[in-house]
Amino acid sequence: MRSVRFVTVALAASALALPLAAIPASAEPQAEPQAAPHSNAKFDRLRWAAPEGFYVGTAVAGGGHHLEQDYPDPFTYDREYRRILANQFSSVSPENQMKWEFIHPEQDQYNFEAADAIVDFAERHRQVVRGHTLLWHSQNPEWLEQGDFTDEELRAILRDHITTVVGRYAGRIQQWDVANEIFNEQGQLRTQDNIWIRELGPGIVADAFRWAHQADPEALLFFNDYGVESDNAKSDAYYALTQDLMAQGVPVHGFSVQAHLSTRYGFPGDLEQNLRRFDELGLETAVTELDVRMDLPESGVPTDAQLRQQADYYQRALDACLAVEDCNSFTIWGFTDKYSWVPVFFEGQGSATIMTEDFDRKPAFFALQSALREARND
Ligand code: G3I
Repeated sequence: MRSVRFVTVALAASALALPLAAIPASAEPQAEPQAAPHSNAKFDRLRWAAPEGFYVGTAVAGGGHHLEQDYPDPFTYDREYRRILANQFSSVSPENQMKWEFIHPEQDQYNFEAADAIVDFAERHRQVVRGHTLLWHSQNPEWLEQGDFTDEELRAILRDHITTVVGRYAGRIQQWDVANEIFNEQGQLRTQDNIWIRELGPGIVADAFRWAHQADPEALLFFNDYGVESDNAKSDAYYALTQDLMAQGVPVHGFSVQAHLSTRYGFPGDLEQNLRRFDELGLETAVTELDVRMDLPESGVPTDAQLRQQADYYQRALDACLAVEDCNSFTIWGFTDKYSWVPVFFEGQGSATIMTEDFDRKPAFFALQSALREARND
């Protein structure tokens, strides 16, 4: 039986939360409560097809990519998007809304509106939240990256940020990506592009975990990265670091693989084995940002064979997580091509998610659904 070390059901909405959504909550279709009677319609949904204690998540589109569209900020304005988000998923991750440049745009100013709206939405729909992210080299505000701070000031800035942000959502976040992408492909710490490690040294990473734990002792604290699906130099670096930190009593609870995959490359066949070695250290593991991009034909429409290959990658990633005892959280990086980051970042590539721009389900959706059902019935 899969052990569940943590289940969040924090129902009290923050009194400070401002309703950001243009759509009133009462007008939204509500997700069914966990205790709803079994029905085919219910098990049609990924979240209900999943084994108990296994969270199926998605990134909540952060906006910005599709400014020319009718819904530049889908979470706020796209009713159909919100309906599927509530119905299909039991975990949500803000795609951008909790990153430094969004939540801490000026040194003396925090902006919680968008993040509050997501956490409130999650609670209304009995979803857990993965917080993303606290210490990263990217999407930091200019005041921070261009600022002229002493080491002491910089340390105080990070401590204040972590204490404030983690503290605000204490008890309402299941897992936090405390440190994101701190190693390069060679397994070396990012001592140049990560401002914290560059200016304050590697010890700051342990402090980030300590401060996050003080601010929310219930949240599970993760290292998160891409390119660590396999046993390789980068994942080896995490393996060594997590052991070291755990031996020192630093509150590190999890290691997660983002899994931004591409059909250009083979599926990382040792994913399960790699997750398992972290599991055996006593860590939670998770898949946090799965998508599977592909080179699109001139028509822009993927072929059936491409969609089948994509479905196979999705299913194998899920199977790997399901097979590992404490891999209880499986998140895809957006569920519709309509708002995917992929075509913006990779020219000529796309169709990376499990639904088309019109929310039609692709073979990848059904592959996940049947793998979840099978695991539930085991
Ligand atoms: O907010 C600005 C907007 O004001 C501006 O007009 C617009 C112009 O393009 O840009 C908007 O910012 C964009 C931001 O997303 C919010 O939408 C940035 O340009 C864009 O670069 C940024 O991309 C995000 C990317 O992280 C940045 O590194 C993606 O949405 C997001 O999906 C992606 O997510 C990362 C994870 O956090 C970590 N793992 C890898 C993953 C994919 O890169």
